[in-house]
Formats: sequence, C-alpha cells, structure tokens
Amino acid sequence: MDKLVIQGGRPLRGSVKVAGSKNAVLPVLAASLLTDEPLVIPNAPRVADVRSMLKVLESLGSRVVQHSDGAIEVCSASVPRSEATWEHVRRMRGSVTVLGPLLARMHRACVSLPGGCVIGVRPIDLHMKGMRALGAKVDLDGGDVRAEAFSGLVGSEMYLGGAQGPTVLGTANVMMAATLAKGRTVIHGAACEPEVVDLGDCLIKMGAKIHGLGSPRIEIEGVKRLHGAEHAVIPDRIEAGTFVIAGALTGGAVRVENCRPDHLMILLERLSEAGLAYDHGEDWIATVPYDTRAYGPRPTDVTTLPYPAFPTDLQAQWMALMTTARGMSLISETIFPDRYMHVAELMRMGANIRRQGASAIVMGPAQLTGAQVMASDLRASAALVLAGLVARGQTEVHRVYHIDRGYERIEERLKEIGASIVRVDENVSIDTSEPDEEPASSAPLRDKVIVPATPLPSGA
Ligand code: EPU
Repeated sequence: MDKLVIQGGRPLRGSVKVAGSKNAVLPVLAASLLTDEPLVIPNAPRVADVRSMLKVLESLGSRVVQHSDGAIEVCSASVPRSEATWEHVRRMRGSVTVLGPLLARMHRACVSLPGGCVIGVRPIDLHMKGMRALGAKVDLDGGDVRAEAFSGLVGSEMYLGGAQGPTVLGTANVMMAATLAKGRTVIHGAACEPEVVDLGDCLIKMGAKIHGLGSPRIEIEGVKRLHGAEHAVIPDRIEAGTFVIAGALTGGAVRVENCRPDHLMILLERLSEAGLAYDHGEDWIATVPYDTRAYGPRPTDVTTLPYPAFPTDLQAQWMALMTTARGMSLISETIFPDRYMHVAELMRMGANIRRQGASAIVMGPAQLTGAQVMASDLRASAALVLAGLVARGQTEVHRVYHIDRGYERIEERLKEIGASIVRVDENVSIDTSEPDEEPASSAPLRDKVIVPATPLPSGA
C-alpha cells in the first residue's frame, strides 16, 4: 500500500491539464452494453474506477481494448451473461449503471448491490423505481437486484426524484434503459449534472432519440437498436475544481487547462466571494497569486446541492481552503449529510472545525501543520492532499488508493506545478524537508529516503 508524503508551504506554479471525467465515463462505458458494435472513448481517465468498470464489462462478456494513447474500445457484440456479481461491482457504485443497459438489451439483469460507502447510505431505490416504471419486475434478493422484462421494456412517464433530490446515476440508468424501450419515456425530476448530459450526448451519437438533456424533464423516444460510436467525455469538473482550489489555497499561479469553466460557475462565484482572484477563458481557469502570509480568503459559506449549485464532490476540498480563511464559514451538506470523514483528519492538522449534523463550522485562520492522516474516500483524500500542500512541515496521507480511484497520477501532476510530493510504500520513512529554510518555490524537491520502518518484502 502506498502513501503520499507532502512537504507543505510552496505556492504552486504552472499548468495542469484536466483528464476526462471519471463520473461521465463510467455510465458511458456501461452504455456500450446497449449495442453489439464498438464504442470508442478516446480520452478515458486512467483511474482505478475505470479499470474496475472495465473488469465488470469483461465479466459480462464484453471485449475491451485499451490503446497506448489512453483510448478505450469496448465491444459487446455478444453479452453472454446478464449477471454482474458482487466480486466485480463491490469496488465502486458506478457499476450499478450496467443494470439499465442489461435490462434493455437482455430483458433481464442481476446486479449485486454496490457495497456500503463511507460517505453515507447510498440506496438504489430510485433506480429500481425507474426500472419498474418501464415495466420491469424488480426484486431485491440476497443483496442482488434482479430485474426482468421478458416482453421488453415499455416507455412511461415517471417522477424520478427522491427525498434528497434528483439522482445522477439513477437518471443515467433509466435513460439508458429507455433508449431501447417501446415508445416514449418522460423522466421528471431528472438530474441536470453535466455527466448526465454527456451520457445523453453519447447515446444520441449511438442513435438514441433524447430531448431535454440538462433540464429536469428528459424525454426519450425508444428505438429498435443502437449502433457503435466514438465519444470523448467531458473534462472532469471535480478534478479541475480540485486543482483550482490547490492554486487558490497555496497563493499560487495555477493554470488549469482543458476544463469547462461553465461547469464550475458556482466554484468561481464562491472564489470571488472569498476574495480570491482568478482568470478564465473558454477552456481554462488560472488562479492569481497572492502572498499567503499577508492575505487570506474571506470566510465563505457553501451548501451542497444538485447542479448547478455547489457540488458535494468539492465540499471537502472547499473545507480545506476555508481552514485558512479569516473568520468563520459554514458548510452544509444536503446530498450526503454524513460526508465529513475529512473533518477529524483536518483537525489533526490543526484545523478548527465543529460539526453539527449535516453542517460544519470552520473557524479560521488555522496554521495547518503536517501530520499523519488517513484517506477515507476519494474526495476526503483530495482535501487532505490540499491541506498538506499548505501545511507547515511534512504530511503523510495514508491509504492513497482512495485518491487513485478518481485522480490520474495526482502526485506527478502536482509535482509538475511545483508541489513537494512523493508516493512511497507505506513501510518507507521519508523526509522531504529542505535542509536549509529556503524560501518557498526556490529549490527543487530533494527526496531523501531515510530508513524503512519495517523491512520491505523481498522483490518490492
Ligand atoms: N438517492 C436515493 N435513492 C437512490 C439514489 C440516490 O435516495 O436510488 C439519494 C442519495 O442517497 C443522495 C442523493 O439521492 O442523497 C443523490 O445521490 P445520487 O444518486 O445523485 O448519487 P450517485 O449517482 O450515486 C453520483 C456520483 C457521486 C456524486 C453524486 C452526487 C458517480 C459515479 N458518482 O453518485 O460522485 O457525489 O452523484 O453528485 O457518478 C465522487 O465522485 O466522489 C462521487 C461520490
């Protein structure tokens, strides 16, 4: 197992290119099951969740080819199996999106419920409700969702929102199922997230008839068959937002390229509210440098809500930023009310945070100091890395496999923009501090492996 070792206090400088969206590519990969022709994704991110999804598809009988330039080709010419077992789906929730395509194409599907998740309860009742509305018989049986519609799915009008609002993957699942249903489906209360729009755009390229993408009312006219296509997914807005916050937090000049500023309007608005300057063009955002010793962000509240409001997937990173703000900010989480695993770890680094139910009050400014911290989920891990970048001294983020689920080579890319960060085996002790107290951003990183704390396994 690896850990990330970060020496904080360096303003970041340089350009970083955003990868294809993880949350867009997962349902797009599942959509490949809807056709017997190849689906090509030229810009799939090289992250663990994509590898897990490809394993799920292979377990169903799809043929997967990964090209050296990163493109992925999936062909589900014959899908002999309609069962996605626990062994394959347990790694990530995105795998539940094979339910709709399997049901639409095979008229039956059995998908193990994705495992419990540290960010809170994650039911799939709305996915099941949507499939039932399309005429499927759906049951929960020993931890598996079993669905069948032997005479085929039939389009219908449904309300898909739930108590917490719309569901992103639920909308994706039902939309995919409805593309091959008989007749017209109308989804009211649909998710408006860019990832849902991107999936819809891919399905349209495959021959689906879909209207209303990006609105809460999506209309799908079922067709007899879909065909292959090539679809480049949208840039990852959460990765882009994480790099923008990294620049803002360290007082650095970070140019985040290949992103969609229009997908991050709320983040940019909150940065302005916090008094942090940025510049942006059609496909880039750049943070404007400032002296963190003389100036800090204004405390700025956020409430996570469905798109286009503040995304839950940037809540932890925003909290890391607010630990340096001059005053008190309130963070409210309405999507996953328990998504606060990062709070205790940030407090280990000196942050002053009080959690109350689904909200957290951050009292700043705190001089964060390096500590041993534990990653618990993808976005919490990102927040700890960000905190490490601005903390005094050395931070070690353990269990980084969480961050590898959604960020491609995070340490290499942060290093390219001036961060002092290395990935090492958990068993290795390392000191990345500068020997002389050199000013930030001057000397190149010198990694010194000190002593293996415990002997390394032979051949490691
Ligand atoms: N919900 C239900 N019933 C359902 C489905 C959802 O009650 O059947 C509730 C959830 O408990 C939650 C709310 O509805 O309170 C919204 O959940 P949603 O279904 O939209 O979440 P998701 O589709 O499972 C995707 C992303 C998450 C992201 C959420 C919200 C993927 C693979 N995952 O999950 O991304 O936080 O939408 O935007 O697309 C991440 O990338 O770190 C991540 C967790």
